[in-house]
Amino acid sequence: MSDDVRKQLLLNGDLPNVSKKRYKRSKPSKKIELGPTPTASPKETKTVPAVPMAAPFDTEVAQDIVFQPNAGPQTEFLSSSEREVLYGGAAGGGKSYAMLADPLHGLNSPNFSGLLVRHTTEELRELIQKSQELYPRAVPGIKWSERKSQWISPRGGRLWMSYLDKDMDVTRYQGQAFNWIGFDELTQWGSPYAWDYMRSRLRSAQAAELGLYMRATTNPGGIGHQWVKKMFIDPSPLREPFWATNIETGEEIRFPKGHSKEGQPLFKRRFIPASLFDNPYLAESGDYEAMLMSLPEHSRKQLLEGNWDVNEGAAFPEFNRKIHVVDPYKIPTNWTKFRACDYGYGSHTGVVWLAVAPDESLVIYRELYCSKVTATDLADMILDAEKEDGTIRYGVLDSSLWHNRGDTGPSLAEQMNMKGCRWRPSDRSKGSRVSGKNELHRRLQIDEFTEKPRLVFMSTCTNTIAQLPAIPLDKRNPEDVDTNSEDHLYDALRYGIMTRPRSSIWDFNPATQRSGFQAADPSFGY
Ligand SMILES: Nc1ncnc2c1ncn2[C@@H]1O[C@H](COP(=O)(O)OP(=O)(O)O)[C@@H](O)[C@H]1O
Ligand SMILES: [Mg+2]
Repeated sequence: MSDDVRKQLLLNGDLPNVSKKRYKRSKPSKKIELGPTPTASPKETKTVPAVPMAAPFDTEVAQDIVFQPNAGPQTEFLSSSEREVLYGGAAGGGKSYAMLADPLHGLNSPNFSGLLVRHTTEELRELIQKSQELYPRAVPGIKWSERKSQWISPRGGRLWMSYLDKDMDVTRYQGQAFNWIGFDELTQWGSPYAWDYMRSRLRSAQAAELGLYMRATTNPGGIGHQWVKKMFIDPSPLREPFWATNIETGEEIRFPKGHSKEGQPLFKRRFIPASLFDNPYLAESGDYEAMLMSLPEHSRKQLLEGNWDVNEGAAFPEFNRKIHVVDPYKIPTNWTKFRACDYGYGSHTGVVWLAVAPDESLVIYRELYCSKVTATDLADMILDAEKEDGTIRYGVLDSSLWHNRGDTGPSLAEQMNMKGCRWRPSDRSKGSRVSGKNELHRRLQIDEFTEKPRLVFMSTCTNTIAQLPAIPLDKRNPEDVDTNSEDHLYDALRYGIMTRPRSSIWDFNPATQRSGFQAADPSFGY
């Protein structure tokens, strides 16, 4: 590789201020050629031995390059343009290192003002040490001030490195303004308070030029696991940018009344999953992987697999996004479709739409999750969502909705039926909760014959995907889930799957098996 090319790769002080977009264009694959490639010059090709190659991350090369993002998520993180981005997952994926590299492009600008925090001083030390290895090489002439705990580039860009332990610590930043804020190991903060407060410090007179960025990295687990998951992971399919939501209500955050942009969504968030195998610096030798593999199952899933869904006492620990979540696709018109609903006005209403694949496995292809919606409005919303669906063969609804709840008019179920949103009652017999749970376990299992689970969720069903792994077992009755948890979509799912006859070819028993769907409710005939 020529020196010219190599220079281009350097994030050094000789470069003009590099915008995010510009940074994105410099793909890592173009930056470095570590082995024989079709584009290598003949001379280079000759010098590379045909026998097992030297370690691909040769230190000499690495020293010259200063910093080169690992292909995949690390590059994605460093080139992302959303306001708030979380890079999270397996330990050792290169998250903290990427966090250190992220402000490098801005430090060359005189107006750059960044803040990188860790939860405690000890953890901060470690990060400062890493920055001392990287920064002087990446930004020649950059100075570290121990007293101010701050990097100052020759052009005047500044980056504070600090700790933020107690919520009260945020007052240190009152009145300050930053255009880049990073939190390393975000789940160490027990609540979103510090993150939310620091968002108010994110402003700059040069915002148009510098951009405004909040960046976080973390492993799953830790005391802040749940709020971080709600803020960054649950609202959208992995990697896809989404409009920021209120983590309590799940609704998009919008500009307030009276603002010139009233009603418009505020800013975007994005989650980028990390895996140990993205980081050749650690994955190569396998030692670190072996260490992570020796951890107890719970930690192993979080730290090695970067799994956000493991919870102590979870009712469905077998649920696994990698297996049970699929990219959306158009359901073929000849597949049977139906829906299931658990209604709650004050709490939540959950509706799921299911399609039956030719191998009898089920696909949850749509969900609706809402609160404070009357039965008749719900009927309209459902019919509206189904406009393009073709035939919905039947719907199954919590049977208690046929009770007249003290008032005289038609029951809620009847109100919906009258609107043309037709339902039949769910099975509410004794034992139906437990058999529904068992049926869901069976569906989540990998079928020996097809080698696929018998139930999958399209990634767009974000609420169901968030809810299912979070449902705890009932401590007094481990046969069932804890009914005090948020379980409306789970209940809808349970009603839905219980309307399908069991059928794997191994279960097949011609004496008991009904082929296809049979009308179960003679009064409605479907
Ligand atoms: N792009 C990179 N270039 C050089 N070294 C890297 C790179 N990414 C990661 N590393 C190395 O891998 C080590 C582990 O990465 P780190 O960022 O600490 O992982 P995590 O924060 O995800 O646990 C780092 O200390 C660093 O030495
Ligand atoms: Mg780290």
